[in-house]
Amino acid sequence: MGFPPSFDLSRRNALITGGGSGLGFAIAKALAAAGASVILVGRNSNKLSKACAELGALGANATWTVCDLLDRGAIAPLVGRLERDGGPIDILFNNAGVQHRAPLTEFPAEGWDRIIATHLSAPFFLTQAVARNMVSRGRGKIINTLSILSELGRANDCAAHDGEGWFENAHPRLSSGARSL
Ligand SMILES: NC(=O)c1ccc[n+]([C@@H]2O[C@H](COP(=O)([O-])OP(=O)(O)OC[C@H]3O[C@@H](n4cnc5c(N)ncnc54)[C@H](OP(=O)(O)O)[C@@H]3O)[C@@H](O)[C@H]2O)c1
Repeated sequence: MGFPPSFDLSRRNALITGGGSGLGFAIAKALAAAGASVILVGRNSNKLSKACAELGALGANATWTVCDLLDRGAIAPLVGRLERDGGPIDILFNNAGVQHRAPLTEFPAEGWDRIIATHLSAPFFLTQAVARNMVSRGRGKIINTLSILSELGRANDCAAHDGEGWFENAHPRLSSGARSL
């Protein structure tokens, strides 16, 4: 994939949650193709190491680390460790997600709680930890994978995307103070 010079991400570190599969892997590939060093985060080490090997074979500088983002206490130490070992996180891509489909009237509380924790709480606390350092450095980018369903809504998908519109709208305020790369 060719990128114009304005998309050059050489010497930039990008952290992609859920980068071991699906959209996250495709995002990691694209950021790496633009020159970024990518860090994949997920829970499954086999998946992450395989994805990383694939990126490495394409010439990317890719590393991975296991973190369950539902473990709130692990988030700030994760950011601290990654920045200590690898330098500033210049780009955070909040992409990790789960799904539970059921009609509203039958939607289980555990499914709701897990989705809200994964799609809202985890990105909020990870964004907060990363943004603190971005704000003090005066630069950084934070990007979220959302869904068109956060705008439209659809029966059976009521939990996954209900709060994402709120998160996206709140985001410029959450990260205000961070300038462009
Ligand atoms: N595919 C679609 O049609 C679609 C449509 C709209 C929105 N989206 C959104 O796009 C994002 C990616 O979706 P996808 O289809 O690519 O799904 P996917 O292949 O299942 O990827 C989701 C990733 O999230 C990671 N993840 C889930 N829970 C996690 C946790 N607690 N801690 C750390 N990592 C966690 C998983 O990694 P591990 O298994 O290693 O934990 C996995 O790699 C999601 O946010 C989804 O809601 C997808």
